[in-house]
Amino acid sequence: MKIALVTGVSKGLGESIAKLFLESGIHVFGVSRNINTRLEKVAKTNTVNFHHYSCDLGKTSEMAQTVELITKDITTYNPTVIYLVNNAAMIEPINRVMELDHQSLSDHFQLNAVAPMFLMNQLLKFATSLNTSFIGVNITSGAAERPIFGWSAYCSSKASINMYTQTAALEQDVLKTGHKIIAFNPGIMDTNMQETIRSSAKEAFAEVDKFKGYKENNQLRHTETVGGVLIDILNDEASIENGKIYHVNEYF
Ligand SMILES: NC(=O)c1ccc[n+]([C@@H]2O[C@H](COP(=O)([O-])OP(=O)(O)OC[C@H]3O[C@@H](n4cnc5c(N)ncnc54)[C@H](OP(=O)(O)O)[C@@H]3O)[C@@H](O)[C@H]2O)c1
Repeated sequence: MKIALVTGVSKGLGESIAKLFLESGIHVFGVSRNINTRLEKVAKTNTVNFHHYSCDLGKTSEMAQTVELITKDITTYNPTVIYLVNNAAMIEPINRVMELDHQSLSDHFQLNAVAPMFLMNQLLKFATSLNTSFIGVNITSGAAERPIFGWSAYCSSKASINMYTQTAALEQDVLKTGHKIIAFNPGIMDTNMQETIRSSAKEAFAEVDKFKGYKENNQLRHTETVGGVLIDILNDEASIENGKIYHVNEYF
């Protein structure tokens, strides 16, 4: 039996990935601050289970307690494969470097970098202890690979996720665990994150007009289309390239 832990399931890409896992008969353990009743219905229709854990991944003690609870619950499933999709993230703070305060930077890195690394640590260790196959996915961004005026926090946290992915994957190769860790760049999608981006002041985010244009010209992809590409990659398990940064654009 396969199970998937997905973060950021209340909306956006995380909701779509969770939905597609459920529709393919995989039990989903979802984490976000807000619950998602739509996924409960999808689970019911597909006779699989959706467990939701309300947790602020920005708070270290809350996150640690939640992981403990989740691993305990997963054990009852005797899983053959465990997927982890580190999807939850924030774009803020958006502003020039000299305008960023300590707290907002700290909150950003806790959610976008520390939380995915901590979850990967814990789930990898857990899967190894169960002798279960493990596939970890870190959702990244094109911002990891190009500097963007006003996005110093986001560009840096996503760049760190790419290098973390490659380093963790290298260890799995050297240790011959058979576990795989990849990153997935979903491209631009029509979500709340894009709304936040479009609401930025031009002085804070120089490319704001370009991003407004993406919406006006229908260039933002639907999260279910993008989630479907990731699920196809995961379904072809033998072909998954450990440590690869997958780009959705290569599939269109
Ligand atoms: N949208 C794009 O164009 C785009 C482009 C490239 C990469 N990405 C990446 O794709 C992923 C999904 O983005 P999205 O656009 O779907 O974002 P979104 O619509 O803003 O959704 C973010 C999700 O993360 C959860 N989340 C936020 N803060 C959290 C916290 N402190 N604790 C727990 N959960 C939290 C939210 O749930 P709650 O608020 O309920 O907690 C929500 O479910 C992110 O990694 C993002 O960086 C997006």
